[in-house]
Amino acid sequence: MTYCSTPGKVIIFGEHAVLYGEPAIAVAINRRFHCDITESNRDITTVNGYPLARRYHSYIVECLNKLEVEDELEIKTETELASGTGMGSSAAITVAILGALRKLLGEDLSEETIAKDAFSVEFDVQGNASPIDTSTSTHGKAIMVSEKKEKNFLWKIEREGRIWNIHHRDIPDLTFVVGNTGVHSPTPPLVEKVRKFYERSNFAKEIIDDIGEIVEESYILLKEDDLEGLGELMDKNHGLLSILGVSHPKLESLVKGARKYSYGAKLTGAGGGGSMIALTDRPEEVAKEIKKRGGKPYILKSTERGISYEGKDHD
Ligand code: PMV
Repeated sequence: MTYCSTPGKVIIFGEHAVLYGEPAIAVAINRRFHCDITESNRDITTVNGYPLARRYHSYIVECLNKLEVEDELEIKTETELASGTGMGSSAAITVAILGALRKLLGEDLSEETIAKDAFSVEFDVQGNASPIDTSTSTHGKAIMVSEKKEKNFLWKIEREGRIWNIHHRDIPDLTFVVGNTGVHSPTPPLVEKVRKFYERSNFAKEIIDDIGEIVEESYILLKEDDLEGLGELMDKNHGLLSILGVSHPKLESLVKGARKYSYGAKLTGAGGGGSMIALTDRPEEVAKEIKKRGGKPYILKSTERGISYEGKDHD
């Protein structure tokens, strides 16, 4: 039997702008996806006792195809990551399944190989994806993605003429509250909306540049553990994302409420609904405020721990 677990992630700076060559930063969180894989003595592959089916297990099917696994397997999964909350649940599933399969097959377990395969699986299932989620789930800690190669470079990912350089970033221990609006908001239409604005307007281009500058500034503050400075940058980043048109009245309400007890707050991920994130040392109060405003709160901490093959007791 092989066991593998992986963390979810939150994007703290740079979403959307990252699609125009600006950097973005994501942090691994202390909520994980767990899986156990054994060779099966039945003639079908099962997931939690049910027959494997592309309709329900699209990421797992694609992982098995990627590694050309033909044997029947018994796959058990358990997740602490609610899907559709901006916490990177599909990336965590993909990375953990690939890790457990490679371990079972006795193959190379380098982070780079797993992160690259996981990106390719996510891309194939979703039709598009940036590698930020899968690389963070593999490496843990914090990841910076950019077009340029910079200090603390980990690996390069290329697809359809696009290049992402993945870098390690040092971070202090951070406490966040994610507030999910409950408004379902798929990423592609929002990416498209920003693209139209960007193509027509120099103003939109300036906003994207400004977001890039915020991300660059955040590296120094992360290193110095300057939570107040980081909170201010989160507020600014949120303002710029709102101007780009990717906020939502429910996001605005949760962000406003959370700021009363936080260093700063912003939407996280694609926006248009989805989730916001607050950086705070008063997580219970933020969570209460988010609940009061109709959102679903998740108190999270940053984690060093990326992909792991040790038992669940270690997670
Ligand atoms: O909603 P999420 O967590 O998948 O984040 C989307 C982030 C974007 O920058 C809007 C798109 C991307 O692929 O980077």
